[in-house]
Order: sequence, then C-alpha cells, then structure tokens
Amino acid sequence: MAAPAFAPHAPEEHEALIEVSGLERTFMVGDEPLTVLRGVDFTIPRGAYVAIIGPSGSGKSTLMYQLGCLDTPSAGTVRLAGYDIGSLDDAELAALRNRFIGFVFQAFNLLPRTTAVDNVALPLRYAGVGLRERRRRAREALGRVALSHREDHTPERLSGGERQRVAIARAIVTEPALLLCDEPTGNLDQKVGREIVELFERLNDELGVTVIIVTHDPALARRVRRVIKIVDGRLVHDGPPTADL
Ligand SMILES: Nc1ncnc2c1ncn2[C@@H]1O[C@H](COP(=O)(O)OP(=O)(O)OP(=O)(O)O)[C@@H](O)[C@H]1O
Ligand SMILES: [Mg+2]
Repeated sequence: MAAPAFAPHAPEEHEALIEVSGLERTFMVGDEPLTVLRGVDFTIPRGAYVAIIGPSGSGKSTLMYQLGCLDTPSAGTVRLAGYDIGSLDDAELAALRNRFIGFVFQAFNLLPRTTAVDNVALPLRYAGVGLRERRRRAREALGRVALSHREDHTPERLSGGERQRVAIARAIVTEPALLLCDEPTGNLDQKVGREIVELFERLNDELGVTVIIVTHDPALARRVRRVIKIVDGRLVHDGPPTADL
C-alpha cells in the first residue's frame, strides 16, 4: 500500500520559520572533499526580512539551496517550520517546497512563448488547481506587482524589470511563507533594481511573507534591519548593517 502523502502543517504552528544549527556542506570534487559551509548557526522568525551578503564563492547560494530544501546538510541541521530537512525524502522535501517556499533568481526563468498570466499560474497547475481558479489567482498576483496591464504579454515583450516582477508574481501565487531571492537585482540596472527591492519590502510588510535576499549590492543591504554575512563558509556577522559592509 502506498504511504500516505506528506501534508506539512501550517508554518504558524512552529515559532521559528528557519533554524540552522552547525550546518556544514561538503562536496566531493573528484576525490577531494570541498567544505563550503563550515558550521553555520542562525534562526529566522516568521515575517523577517534578511539580507545575506558575502564575497563571490563564500557559500551564499549553497546556503540558499539548503533553506529552499533543494539540498540537505552534510552535518548539522536545517529546520523549516520545525521540519528537519535532513530527515525527509525527496517527495517530502518537494511537498515542503510547494507548501512554504517561493524562489526568485537572477535569471528570470520564464517560459518564453507563454503569457505573463500563464507563467504566473504555472505553480498552481503543479498544485492541482483548476484553470479558471489558476488564472484568477495569477491575475491577482500580477496586480500585487503592478503588472495587470501586461497580463497577456509574453516575456520577450516585457522589460527586464517587468520580467522580474512576473517571476515574483509566480513566486507569490502559491502564498508561500518564505521568499528566497538569490541576486534578484543582478541583471537589472540600479533604478529598476531599487524598484524590485521596494516591491519585496512591500510584500514583506503587506503579506507578512518572510523574505531572504542574497545580494552583492551594499545599498540594498543597508536598507534591511538584519544582515547575515558569510565569508569562506562561516557566518561572520548577524545583525543590523554596519558601515563596512
Ligand atoms: N555542487 C557543487 N559541487 C562542487 N562544488 C560546489 C558545488 N556547489 C558549489 N560549489 C562550490 O562552493 C563554493 C561556494 O559556491 P556558492 O555558489 O555557494 O557561492 P556564492 O557565495 O553563491 O557565490 P556568488 O556570489 O558568486 O554567487 C564555490 O567554490 C563553488 O565552486
Ligand atoms: Mg551565488
């Protein structure tokens, strides 16, 4: 008999959204182990807005994969809404991702010949929502990112900033508790990048969604209340932004 499907509880049922403890991640490169995260600890409450900074190659994306349940620890633990991700199988990790997490990346990763509204609706298709309801919710999400007037445009008829807003609408359409954003302004000019950041701030404020944003942009990091800095796989700062970011 098939095991019952894994149905995660609501994130509200656990106090901290994320608890990272002694996290290590080691990759095998040929025969050589390469340790990329070397004992990272932090906790993120629901509703927080946190920037992760650090030099290129320091382990930021590796950490985001862990928080996003796309990878699991070599040692230590990552808990999402109380679930120890290292103890879950692939199907359970996928269920946690679908239930809790929206992703926004530097490359917008939109389907090229598909309209904005249908790009945004896609995650709902995987969740088994019917077509009419998918489109209704996708339009609502596009409204949240101020793109209602571009619903029927395909990505090639959108600017870079508009494409990223479509990607953000797609990330929030499932009403996730957590938005993980890895260099979301990396492909945008400064002004458009700032608009995108203001949009994340608004979503955090209005929807209460927890936002974690990896960035190289010190101006962006200075806008947040909490900055986590990773250098060479270790957490070297966790608190308000400092002058020497
Ligand atoms: N799957 C993997 N196998 C082997 N090495 C990896 C793997 N993933 C990442 N690494 C290595 O881990 C280190 C950290 O990579 P990561 O992508 O986390 O850095 P980053 O801080 O996100 O850098 P950037 O700012 O350039 O995006 C790099 O040296 C990278 O080559
Ligand atoms: Mg990276």
